[in-house]
Amino acid sequence: MTTVTARAHTNIALIKYWGKRDAAQMLPATSSVSMTLADFYTDTTVTFLADQAADTFTLDGHPQPVPAKVTAVLTEIRRLAGWSRSAQVRSVNHVPTAAGLASSASAYAALALAGSRAAGLALSPQALSRLARHGSGSAARSIFGGLAIWHRGSGDSDSVAEPLPMPNLALRMIVVVVSAAAKIISSTQAMANTAATSPFYPAWVATNEAAAQQMVAALAASDFPRIGHLTEQSSMQMHATMLAADPAFTYFQPATLRVWQLVQELRAAGVPAYATMDAGPNVKILTLAAHVDAIVAKLTPEFGQQLRVTGPGPAATVLEERP
Ligand code: ADP
Ligand code: DP6
Ligand code: CO
Repeated sequence: MTTVTARAHTNIALIKYWGKRDAAQMLPATSSVSMTLADFYTDTTVTFLADQAADTFTLDGHPQPVPAKVTAVLTEIRRLAGWSRSAQVRSVNHVPTAAGLASSASAYAALALAGSRAAGLALSPQALSRLARHGSGSAARSIFGGLAIWHRGSGDSDSVAEPLPMPNLALRMIVVVVSAAAKIISSTQAMANTAATSPFYPAWVATNEAAAQQMVAALAASDFPRIGHLTEQSSMQMHATMLAADPAFTYFQPATLRVWQLVQELRAAGVPAYATMDAGPNVKILTLAAHVDAIVAKLTPEFGQQLRVTGPGPAATVLEERP
């Protein structure tokens, strides 16, 4: 049987995905827009074994119970391939796991690519995006490099991501690792609870769908202040829905707010820097290459050891295919 190793990079949403309109089909409440990152990724190796009783999974070399999201992707691959073989999945994260740095995005994009190829399938990028989505929504976007939009779509077949043209801008992201610890509440659980209980949620859905379209226009115009403003707004509005959920909840830690405050001070001093946070305490600062040094200088006294500067990364690729 063929063994395939694929690499997919994480992505950070500029316009967030937060909540599903159909959890079984993994259909999002709104469209979202993201940048794939050069320096954070997952490598996943898949072999299908005819004579194995059950799927197996190792993460960073440690055998683990097979996550339900892995089973979801493998089940879909088996359906597409028309066979019932079990799979051996080995994955290595070059990103902190479950810390709000999008490990599920790189993980399930890598699994979709490696798994489908190991099953002898040659899926189109759109079909890979759909397959990755069945593992983790944000993974639909990590099939692509650079910038991507994951369309809300009308159903299973068209709720997929596609690449967006790169604006004429040297986009950079400064990742401030406030904590690499695994989150207490998964993204899946937190977004479901927010959608079910937050009175702010319907407003967020309406605003965020419009914001995705506004972001496409701002990117096409290479309008960085507008891109940055929309990015920060989508993130903060998403976090506001969580504060209004029942029970009220936040991923923010004191250092998260401190970094955001420093970003606001930078902006007041004329440096284009915009903060975005995901389902975890870590802050990503969107900026342009020319301003990285000024931002790093401002953050170094308090967060010197916790900074990672990165930029747009490549599409998911097959690293190795062996019989
Ligand atoms: P993150 O912010 O890192 O995306 P999520 O809460 O969305 O966190 O998802 C974390 C979950 O993703 C983990 O509990 C784990 O089950 C799964 N995961 C992370 N890395 C991998 C991987 N390489 N292969 C399979 N599943 C993974
Ligand atoms: C805050 O894709 O991790 O990072 O689809 O349930 O696996 P599941 O959730 P996930 O959610 C990501 C949420 C986010 C925003 C984003 O990446 O768009
Ligand atoms: Co995730």
